[in-house]
Amino acid sequence: MGAVLRLLSSIVPSSVVVVETGSDIQGHLYPAERDYIARAVRKRRAEFTTVRYCAERALGALGYARPVQVPGPRGEPAWPQGVVGSMTHCAGYRAVAVALDAAVDAIGIDAEPNAPLSDDVLRLVASPEEARRCALLSAQHPGVHFDCLLFSIKESMYKAWFPREGVWLGFEDADVTIDPEGAFGVIVRTPGVERAWYAGRWNCVDGILASSLVVPIGGWHRTGAPTWSRTAPVAGARPCSTSAGTAVTEHSSEVTGE
Ligand SMILES: CC(C)(COP(=O)(O)OP(=O)(O)OC[C@H]1O[C@@H](n2cnc3c(N)ncnc32)[C@H](O)[C@@H]1OP(=O)(O)O)[C@@H](O)C(=O)NCCC(=O)NCCS
Repeated sequence: MGAVLRLLSSIVPSSVVVVETGSDIQGHLYPAERDYIARAVRKRRAEFTTVRYCAERALGALGYARPVQVPGPRGEPAWPQGVVGSMTHCAGYRAVAVALDAAVDAIGIDAEPNAPLSDDVLRLVASPEEARRCALLSAQHPGVHFDCLLFSIKESMYKAWFPREGVWLGFEDADVTIDPEGAFGVIVRTPGVERAWYAGRWNCVDGILASSLVVPIGGWHRTGAPTWSRTAPVAGARPCSTSAGTAVTEHSSEVTGE
């Protein structure tokens, strides 16, 4: 598994701790977690264990012990009271992002291999207008599969959404606008939420796309005119960059962002 450095940690605000790794790590699992994952295939056991090691490190940086993180009824991870967080894993990458809920309302992170979606999946996750915008961006910036990025952003949106709202959010409930310089915005409309908007960052390193949605305290039900397009990219974030040759397999940091 190749090393991926600072994929998410370079795009989150300073209130967020990210631990990310490109290698699998044989960390500690609680007995209930071992029972939960015992019959899973090896790949799933490896990502499950590694991402919980990342969670232990990230929570430790905030001064918390890791709780038992057997997935909840809808797959959601548990966090200590006073903490918000999110997990992701894909081939070659695992990461956890956490913050104190005194500073951050919600976090969603997601990573995907930078590869095109099939037409069927694209139809499922993107509106015709979103698909058109992605195709235009991909033509202008050929190093990034913007349809895949759109999917990642919607996964991040869901991971931030579900722990707050406790209800399903469909792909059709969110309208995503991507800034090719590393930012994005999401407008959510559901029967319960007339119109809320969220802003986030994305990055692409060594063939892996990642998105992060960090909602600062008091920002969960933002309404009115979205302002993400005026948000400058995080200093140091280089969408579509490469870290070839990097030997470090694990990184934890607090990075100044928004
Ligand atoms: C839950 C979901 C978002 C996970 O995304 P994924 O790309 O398949 O998988 P990732 O590896 O990136 O993330 C998996 C982690 O997500 C987290 N997760 C799973 N369900 C979750 C939920 N309901 N709420 C918050 N986090 C959740 C878990 O920590 C999980 O890791 P674990 O199983 O080791 O504990 C996805 O499977 C899903 O159900 N999507 C449909 C809903 C959706 O995306 N709607 C779009 C809204 S705009």
